[in-house]
Amino acid sequence: MLAAGAALCVAAGLWTAERDGSRAVPATADKGKSGPSSEEGAPETAGSRGNAFASAKRVALTFDDGPHPVYTPKLLELLEQEQVPATFFLLGQNVEAYPEVVEEIAGKGHLIGNHTYHHVEITSLSEEQACLEIDETSRLIEELTGSGTEYVRPPFGTWNEGLEDRLDLIPVMWTVDTLDWTTENVDWIVERTMADAGENAVILMHDSYESTVRAVERLIPLLRSEGFEFVTVDRVIMD
Ligand code: NI
Repeated sequence: MLAAGAALCVAAGLWTAERDGSRAVPATADKGKSGPSSEEGAPETAGSRGNAFASAKRVALTFDDGPHPVYTPKLLELLEQEQVPATFFLLGQNVEAYPEVVEEIAGKGHLIGNHTYHHVEITSLSEEQACLEIDETSRLIEELTGSGTEYVRPPFGTWNEGLEDRLDLIPVMWTVDTLDWTTENVDWIVERTMADAGENAVILMHDSYESTVRAVERLIPLLRSEGFEFVTVDRVIMD
């Protein structure tokens, strides 16, 4: 449940109910904020193949809505085999339900971000409610992993910039929407992703489906064969 009076929400900001409407917003970091450098913040355990391809094109696999009790562990096993670092934007309610999976994500060196507690549309909430949704999720993640998260992916891609005065988090959108949640057709997901993936692509997927895990299994060698290096999303937006 949501705790009242979350610490990060004390400074009042203006409520600006901007609605973007577009789900295909380019991934951009908040201009003024500084995030971790790759040396400090990015796990090197899972991405060391990148050393040999220092000038490789970067791509970030990002997974929303987890952790899932079945498919997230399957995906983690695959990513470990392939030495691919990834980013997981977690729902607070699933963090609470499957804490052991969150610990496994963190233990394997992936980056964890915030996806609100109940998968809510931020712009439909008051700032107070939005802060609670985000702060409680960050608190749960920190409790389990020992470190807080610096990134938030707003569900549905709608963000209230007024929150940036109150929350010390950087919003992260995406450049490739795989629409993996709409189909079990792995071929379709793979083809769509490969068609849209470019340098510094931020690929949006969901670790709640068998078909997504199977698509990732095929996408990893395909993207590598096109010269892509896998990185956590902070290295795409902050470097
Ligand atoms: Ni989502």
